This record gives sequence, C-alpha cells and structure tokens, in this order.
Amino acid sequence: MNTMSISRRKFAQLLGAGAAAAIVRPRFSFAKPTQVTTTSLTPGGNIVRLSANENPYGPCPKALQAITDSFGLACRYPDEHNNILIDKLAKLNSVNHDQILLGDGSGEILKLCAETFTGPKNGNLVAADPTFEAILSNATANGAEVVKVPLTTSFAHDLPKMLAAAKGGLIYVCNPNNPTASITPKDELRAFITKTPPETMILVDEAYFHFADCPDYESVIPLVNEHPNLIVSRTFSKIYGMAGLRCGYCVAPKETVERMRQQQMWDSVNCMALAAATASLDDPDHVPNGQRLNKEAKQFTTSELEKIGYKSIPSQANFIMFDCKKPVVPIIKAMKEKNVHVGRLFPALPTHMRLTIGKKSEMETFLSAFREVMA
Ligand SMILES: Cc1ncc(COP(=O)(O)O)c(C=O)c1O
Repeated sequence: MNTMSISRRKFAQLLGAGAAAAIVRPRFSFAKPTQVTTTSLTPGGNIVRLSANENPYGPCPKALQAITDSFGLACRYPDEHNNILIDKLAKLNSVNHDQILLGDGSGEILKLCAETFTGPKNGNLVAADPTFEAILSNATANGAEVVKVPLTTSFAHDLPKMLAAAKGGLIYVCNPNNPTASITPKDELRAFITKTPPETMILVDEAYFHFADCPDYESVIPLVNEHPNLIVSRTFSKIYGMAGLRCGYCVAPKETVERMRQQQMWDSVNCMALAAATASLDDPDHVPNGQRLNKEAKQFTTSELEKIGYKSIPSQANFIMFDCKKPVVPIIKAMKEKNVHVGRLFPALPTHMRLTIGKKSEMETFLSAFREVMA
C-alpha cells in the first residue's frame, strides 16, 4: 500500500480496523497494560505522583492500540486525523464540525482564548481565586489586566462579582474548579451566562466534567448555540488518561473558532494523540470504569482523612482539597522526602493541600506517609 496517496476514507477504515499497523509493522506495542507507568517517571523509581491530577490508569486499550497502529502514519501531517476526531466530537456534542477547535491539550485552548480575547485591545481577564492559573499567566503575557475574585464561602465562583469586574475581555470559569474540586451550581452559571453582555467572552473550563456527578452540576456545552460569547473547553488528559499525549478541544460558535484559529500554530496536535483520542471515544467502558475507580479511591481517602480529623472540600473531580490546619508548604516538602508528591501551594488557601486521587494502593501509601508527617 502506498501511504503517500492514502485517502481520508481509507484512513478512517485503517483506524477503524486497526490495520494501519500493516503499513509499517511496529516492533513493539503499547497495547499492553504493563507498559503504562503509573507511579513513577523513572524506571525502578518508587515515587507516588499525586501532584498533577493525572489519571493513574492511563489510556484505554483501544487508544493504546490506535497509537501503535498510527506509527506508520507518523511521517504525514495529521489533517485526516484532525477531521475524523472533529467529526466525532461534533456528533458527541450535537454541534457542527466548524464549532470544534482541537488543541495541544486544553492548555492550548486556554492560551488561545487569552491571546484572542484579552489584552490592551480586547479587555481584562477575570478569574476566580484560587483557580487553575495557566490562563492568568497567558493573559498577563498578552498585556491584559488580570482580576482575581475570591471564591464564595462554599467554594463556588462568585459570578455576580466576576461579572461586575469584567471590562470587555474574558471571564474564566473553571467548573469543577481546580484546585478546590468544587462546582459552581448550574442555575447560577446559567443566569450568569444569560446576563453577561455579548462583548465579554466567557470560557467555561470543563476539564473535570466527567468526574462531577452532583445534581447541581451541568455542562454548558448545550448553551453554546444560544450564546455567541460562550466557549467551553474539554480535555483528553483527565478521564481519558492522555495527559502525556496532549489533546484537548473547545466547543464554540463558528466565528469564535475562526478567530482563535488565526492565533494557532498549524497542526498543533500530533497524529498519535489524535488517533488515541478518536479510539477513546469508541470505548463505551472507559469513562464509567474511570468514574467508578476514582469515586471508590476518593471515598476511601476522604473517610480515612476524616477519621484523623482532616475535612475535605466536597470533591467533584479526580482530586481533593483538604485543610491541613497548618501551613501546607512544609508538609508538601516532608511528603516529597517520603517520595509522595502532592499538589503545590495555592496562596489563597495556604493551609490546604490539593491531592490527586490515584489508585487505592497509592492512596494507602499517601495516608501512611501523611500520618507520619503530621504525627
Ligand atoms: C482546570 C484545568 N484546565 C486545563 C488544564 C490543562 O490540561 P491539558 O492541557 O492537559 O488538557 C488543566 C490541567 O491540569 C486543568 O486542571
């Protein structure tokens, strides 16, 4: 088969049939669970990594197979891979193909939003405090004023205050919020989206969407077609276990996608990530399994912490935040000395620790180290 003249249809067939491996037969396959490194980045190391809200189970077997199968297409630009994934995401989210923009992780989407909608010509960035900080530095680098609005006492976004602080520009709503794992209730979010004037863009970051199961939470993707100033970002890094591969996307009106694309590097998502993301969407078991495993390990961890007097903020994500009742920085350092890596300091909550939920065995290791450190 001549890989130079591969058509889009043929490419889809190849991916679907898992036969692309026939183009170049790889000498090894990632499609073996034993190859997924979950606790350590260094061979033979024994670090328990609960610091970056990663998924310890890794990509699903279909995604690992798709990566292997796409080795033979690594010499091609990923146009077809892009289109296949966009088609699937458009269908999944009930929007048109031209309303999806893929990114090199959702981090690239956040950066593009800061570059397109904030800065001296566009306006300020308004974000919660604490929240996921990447977009704050993107906006600052773009010359924008950044306004931080403290979360409410229930760790929701204070949407009326955020709206009052906006001057054109962009309001960033992280829901569920990193680092607090808390949600902003759906009625409040809907009312805010309706009230926000069209000249202010709203980015709702739903990186942790799949882990939220409380009745007060909802995705706002269905609102995109009614609100031309709304953008919603998602990622394959969390429930799909692809943080190292880099793939995310946003759903937005066509005009917004076009404006953002002008700022974007061409072909920023690599073909392995695209193939893996496409295959992940075809696996009906991966999401429910990941949700169940996360919930079980989270319940175990929060109840063990509660037994020794540490209460967590109710979590709707694959991490928790809990009050250590004394400055967290020395605790983070002491945990690291025991080879357990936990989340960094979030200055707005100086006594709180952000802890990723790993496998139950990792949480057991965390708990025994934490008990020793706090003794
Ligand atoms: C809330 C939130 N948004 C976006 C990202 C970026 O994720 P990625 O670029 O891997 O999609 C993260 C990463 O942890 C996050 O916590």
